[in-house]
Amino acid sequence: DLGCFTHDPGFVATASCSSKITFIDGDSGVLLYRGYPIEQLAESCEFTEVAYLLMNGELPNQSQLQDFNLEINDRAIIHESLRKFFDGFHYDAHPMAMLVGVVGSLSAFYHSDLNIKDPVSRKVCATRLIGKMPTIAAASYRHSVGRPFVYPRIELSYCENFLNMMFSRSSQNYIDQDHYIDQDFVKALNLLFILHADHEQNASTSTVRLAASTGANPYACIAAGIAALWGPAHGGANEAVLNMLAEIGTVENVPKYIAKAKDPEDPFRLMGFGHRVYKNFDPRATIIRKTCHEILKKTQSSDPLFELALAVEEQALKDDYFIERKLYPNVDFYSGIIYKALNIPVEMFTVMFAIARTAGWVAHWMEMMEDASTPISRPRQLYVGPTRRDFQPIDER
Ligand code: SDX
Repeated sequence: DLGCFTHDPGFVATASCSSKITFIDGDSGVLLYRGYPIEQLAESCEFTEVAYLLMNGELPNQSQLQDFNLEINDRAIIHESLRKFFDGFHYDAHPMAMLVGVVGSLSAFYHSDLNIKDPVSRKVCATRLIGKMPTIAAASYRHSVGRPFVYPRIELSYCENFLNMMFSRSSQNYIDQDHYIDQDFVKALNLLFILHADHEQNASTSTVRLAASTGANPYACIAAGIAALWGPAHGGANEAVLNMLAEIGTVENVPKYIAKAKDPEDPFRLMGFGHRVYKNFDPRATIIRKTCHEILKKTQSSDPLFELALAVEEQALKDDYFIERKLYPNVDFYSGIIYKALNIPVEMFTVMFAIARTAGWVAHWMEMMEDASTPISRPRQLYVGPTRRDFQPIDER
């Protein structure tokens, strides 16, 4: 019931849909997953616990979480024929291109999941997607660096499995003796996945819901969401932040780029700043900033990019242009720096976002499928083209 949270009744009239999953109050910087504050979930949960909450509406008890983790790990492996898909990609294909293609093809392998009217097969499909996304993501990275794929391991946690599949220096299905999976890295990744898991009707989630409203199969809907997330104004912003910092180069150059961002004639925008909804600090950015400090202290990398990021943040936050427009750092401003500290390559940053957001996408897909009366979304438009006119033969034009 949106009314209980919405300050402005007129908001309900403009809302594109109603949902019980995530609540955002952009003015107060509030983000709730199924009523729980993001700060509490980020502090206390593992990612799969939050994925369970988003999908089912309640936090799991110990045995429910244990069963869910086992099911996710059990479904993490991909069909051997699917591995051949990667051979078709050029080695330097963007991992998001591989993700869109491979996820979209899953409907060719798991026909039983296409019975979207059956709640049991819907749940199987959702856990299959959450389980397989890290495996497909890691495989796209291994393909790009010419390394053999590493299989998921049943006894590892979600984040441990991903890091092992990404960085294990061996093709056998075991953790390299000399490749110690750093638990601080696992903790940071777990936090980033929780913070990126869902965010109400953002562009990619709205894309998933639009596709789902036509009755398209779930793999096609999630592939559509991945494609929408790729844009630099949305999920591609974390990659764009790192590219922007690399372009700025030094702290001395920051004022010049702040001025460019303010110039209406200049298309340059400060990546990682601003948000469609948060007209205050993005609560996720506040949480992430603290972890950024911890990880960089841990890796003893006084990464010049982080120092540069702090200089950009400091100068933008005291600039009237940004203050008047309430443009604050968003979740993407710091997440790229942490991914870089975790040795995740820049081109994989948006893939990381997609792994996490799959939990939200499948939750919204399930929510829509549960309500059989959901009509197809068919947005109307404000027509601003030419009024009616008659055809002219080509020799009269
Ligand atoms: C995500 O929807 C979600 O929830 C998304 C997300 C999620 O979890 O799914 O939160 C993830 O996508 C975060 C946003 C990541 N994108 C970026 O960091 C890219 C840079 N940000 C901008 O592209 C922009 O801020 C948007 C698109 C994110 C939001 O745009 P708004 O709030 O609708 O602002 P606007 O386009 O209406 O502009 C308002 C004014 C304009 O200036 P004036 O016309 O008033 O003079 O603010 C300016 C804009 O030019 N402006 C910026 C700016 N963002 C807006 N100026 C410089 N740098 C920027 N980043």
